[in-house]
Amino acid sequence: MNIAEKMKSEWNRRAKHHARFWVATENFHDDREFAKSGEHTANALLSRVAPYFNASWSVLDIGCGIGRVLKPLAPHFQHLIGIDVSGEMIAQSKKWLNGLENVETLETSGVDLRPFPKESFDLVYSFVAFQHMPRPVFARYLEESHRVLKTHGYLAFQIPVGVSLDTAIEDTITMRQYSTDELVDELHRCGFQLTGERFIDTRLQSSSQIEPNCDIYLAKKSGIVIRGKSTCWLQDECRQTFSLLDTRMYLWFAEQCLHAGRKEEALRTYEALREQAPDSLEKWIRTVEILVEGGKLDEAQETLEKLTAALPTYQALNTLLEFQNQHP
Ligand SMILES: C[S@@+](CC[C@H](N)C(=O)[O-])C[C@H]1O[C@@H](n2cnc3c(N)ncnc32)[C@H](O)[C@@H]1O
Repeated sequence: MNIAEKMKSEWNRRAKHHARFWVATENFHDDREFAKSGEHTANALLSRVAPYFNASWSVLDIGCGIGRVLKPLAPHFQHLIGIDVSGEMIAQSKKWLNGLENVETLETSGVDLRPFPKESFDLVYSFVAFQHMPRPVFARYLEESHRVLKTHGYLAFQIPVGVSLDTAIEDTITMRQYSTDELVDELHRCGFQLTGERFIDTRLQSSSQIEPNCDIYLAKKSGIVIRGKSTCWLQDECRQTFSLLDTRMYLWFAEQCLHAGRKEEALRTYEALREQAPDSLEKWIRTVEILVEGGKLDEAQETLEKLTAALPTYQALNTLLEFQNQHP
């Protein structure tokens, strides 16, 4: 499996688990809250492009998810297209965007904008998507955005900027963070100029801080793309690791379900995690906790026997006894 295939399969898995959660982790509880977060992002984008904005623009959203931002933007532009590496996100976007005739969404490769001819769009934007992508993929999207933008078109995007941070290429969820210099250099290489000099100065002063800035960057297509970056990462086989952040997110989601009294949903999440990361101990224990709390002692014992088989050194049955003592 190469990195494009891994991004596709992992984002499909996340979308099947709970698309709203993996799109907007803080605002996933119901449709209303989720829609509000989309309006908030859309308003921030509209105010960023306000000095240049034109209602006849045709717009592309990279990594659109189920269309959280596309929906509130629809009344403001003539035509909008959203693309995403995950076919499952795109399938769910059809429902979320139902009835919006000027919005289309489609599944793409995850590494390019091949379906679109050059100079197709006035504005390309992306939110909370570039940050999850391996650096070469982000660089490729910048080159591709330059190709599909009309002359003097705009690229608006969010990305964490601060201390430069990276992770393994096969990690499709952990956030990458860019230093100001890295970001400005990469934009220049791809033929973009950041707009608003004072804005850039502020970023420069903050480039050593740990907490990232996640403002919206606006860059204008101005020069040409200087190629020369190797693309061997596209063909390379990548390791089949399961990101620690994935594990944490599943566990956090399950905790949220428990707080809301949705035990069965928590249980399903632990099961899903068990399939993906059989060596993660915490979710086994939480599964057992729920089973014991629900009086399902036989199932709890069965689960712990599976744990003992998966982790032979772990004294699983002792844990069950401890729980039984605590919940007589
Ligand atoms: C956190 S969600 C954000 C979705 C949307 N941008 C929003 O703000 O509501 C990240 C999205 O990026 C998509 N994505 C991740 N890697 C991608 C890639 N290489 N190409 C296109 N989409 C990608 C995921 O499938 C997911 O839908």
